[in-house]
Amino acid sequence: MSSKFRVRIHYEYQLNSSWLRTKDRKLRTEKEVIGIPLADIFEKYPDRRYIMFGGKGGLGKTTFSAATAYYLAKKGKRVLVFSVDPQASLTDIFQKDIFGKGPTEIIPNLYAQEIDADRRVKEYQQEIRQKILDMYGMNKIPEEIENYIQAASAEPAMEESAIFDEVVDIVVKGGYDYYIYDLVPLGHALYYLSMASVYDAWIDKITGLREQMREYDQVAAVMRREKELDEDAILKELLYIKERIHKSSSILTDKEKTAFFFVLTAEEMIIKDTLKAAELFAKFDVPLSGYIINRVLPPDLKGKNIPEYLENRLDMQDHYLKVIDATFGNQILASVPEMERDVTGLGMIEKMAKTMFG
Ligand SMILES: Nc1ncnc2c1ncn2[C@@H]1O[C@H](COP(=O)(O)OP(=O)(O)OP(=O)(O)O)[C@@H](O)[C@H]1O
Ligand SMILES: [Mg+2]
Repeated sequence: MSSKFRVRIHYEYQLNSSWLRTKDRKLRTEKEVIGIPLADIFEKYPDRRYIMFGGKGGLGKTTFSAATAYYLAKKGKRVLVFSVDPQASLTDIFQKDIFGKGPTEIIPNLYAQEIDADRRVKEYQQEIRQKILDMYGMNKIPEEIENYIQAASAEPAMEESAIFDEVVDIVVKGGYDYYIYDLVPLGHALYYLSMASVYDAWIDKITGLREQMREYDQVAAVMRREKELDEDAILKELLYIKERIHKSSSILTDKEKTAFFFVLTAEEMIIKDTLKAAELFAKFDVPLSGYIINRVLPPDLKGKNIPEYLENRLDMQDHYLKVIDATFGNQILASVPEMERDVTGLGMIEKMAKTMFG
């Protein structure tokens, strides 16, 4: 599909949301070139070592993260799959308690990690207490200050920033061929990305100011015939933070290094939200590698002796699969069937990996 055509469809979609229900509209005249299958992405682009699955809640992000990690590990790559979700479910899918335990080996080459944001917040609190004690030469934190520290730590932003910090740690540390981010549902992932750019702008400003002030200080020092000032500790700290943020957010938005997949299902609301989200992600320059359709019911059930409700589901699925095809075309990389049960444990993960990657 030419990009012009895609834009038009998108535009029409925005103008008229009932577009999705327009059954017989002829959207495409010829069969398109088939997109690159999922497995080929990793073969073709070996530099895309940071992998993310985005999508609305409950569509299969964790499932695909785990299956992809399994597939790559079996191919001999060293893989870390990690979760930034306070309600992380890697523990459930791998059936192994990994929460807050750091990178834990699941099978050779496959490591999983669930970030314990709470612990990090507690570490922050301790740091603050220590600084206050040192600064004022106290041996106990006064009650009002302790209350204030407790209240500040209860802010959601504190947890977010703890998570963000942990992710930066993981990425900056290195040591793996592949990093798979088991993302939180869309809104949150966007928040995370926007946080990177807000942080970045903020630090830029502060560092700029600090640098200016340092110049003035130095001039003043020279005029007073003093030695050059000691290294500015605050400026150093800021520059350090800035470099870390740069490193992690530049990875997220680097097409050469990142593979970002959207998970969706053949349902109206999901398609709509996916389109909206894709647009927002584009705003943050997150490069999209493609879409994966999950939970596709076996079409060959049709015509067999099945209950009416299932017949209806299949009809609905048929329709929305066409809509997906018309909307995302050759950006669809894989279509994954509904399994006979939920995907937990290595047996099901292996099965899912085979289905996804062949
Ligand atoms: N193709 C499938 N067949 C059967 N069950 C599936 C399939 N894909 C996902 N599931 C099941 O659906 C549930 C939700 O999947 P998963 O946890 O991967 O979603 P998620 O996108 O990570 O959710 P959240 O947004 O809450 O993190 C899980 O119980 C999973 O086992
Ligand atoms: Mg999940």
